[in-house]
Amino acid sequence: MGNKIIIALDGMSEVEALRIAKLLKGKVWGFKINDLLFADPGIIKKLKKFGNVFADAKLYDIPNTVANSVRRLSAVGADMITVHASGGIEMMRAAKENAGHSKILAVTVLTSFKGSQNKIVLKLAREAEKAGLDGIVCSGHELKYVSKLPLLKVVPGIRPKGYNRKDDQKRTVTAEEAVKLGADYLVIGRPIINSLKLKHGK
Ligand code: C5P
Repeated sequence: MGNKIIIALDGMSEVEALRIAKLLKGKVWGFKINDLLFADPGIIKKLKKFGNVFADAKLYDIPNTVANSVRRLSAVGADMITVHASGGIEMMRAAKENAGHSKILAVTVLTSFKGSQNKIVLKLAREAEKAGLDGIVCSGHELKYVSKLPLLKVVPGIRPKGYNRKDDQKRTVTAEEAVKLGADYLVIGRPIINSLKLKHGK
């Protein structure tokens, strides 16, 4: 399977998100949203005209509550939904059972955390597998430790070599490194969004 790019549409208006999605239609696998979900979950339907939609809700609650949220996001067409792996196997199972056609991914350790997270990421990934989830979100640094697990690997914290800003990300890799290490999907936000803004004079 080819590696796929997901564009993170963070901290922008719905109008701006739809403008960027239209611009990148057909060039990327899809679009990831988080804060826009809180403005209007109906954004998922609108974005689907331009690609797949990753609802990065990062759900973390008791199984019944997570199941309810997953059902709503799935009903409006989210292709991928995230839950926190640290919410436990029972919660992850409940998410999967209520996911319909949506894929459920477990967020392991945020890429804004410093230092070696290999052990904890592997432990959480194993639990996600046990719960029957479709994949995990981890940084490129942990990919080699989870490569044997039959899970999709979605990798944020991608920074190009010449890009001299990490922003709030700590465990970053380049797109090339992530692909070589076995990422199935790359989540890229600011490095692409900022360059689009420059191009369009904003
Ligand atoms: O702008 P940037 O490329 O840093 O965007 C990365 C995106 O991936 C953000 O939307 C962030 O919320 C998300 N993410 C992350 N680390 C995780 C899970 C998601 O950076 N473990």
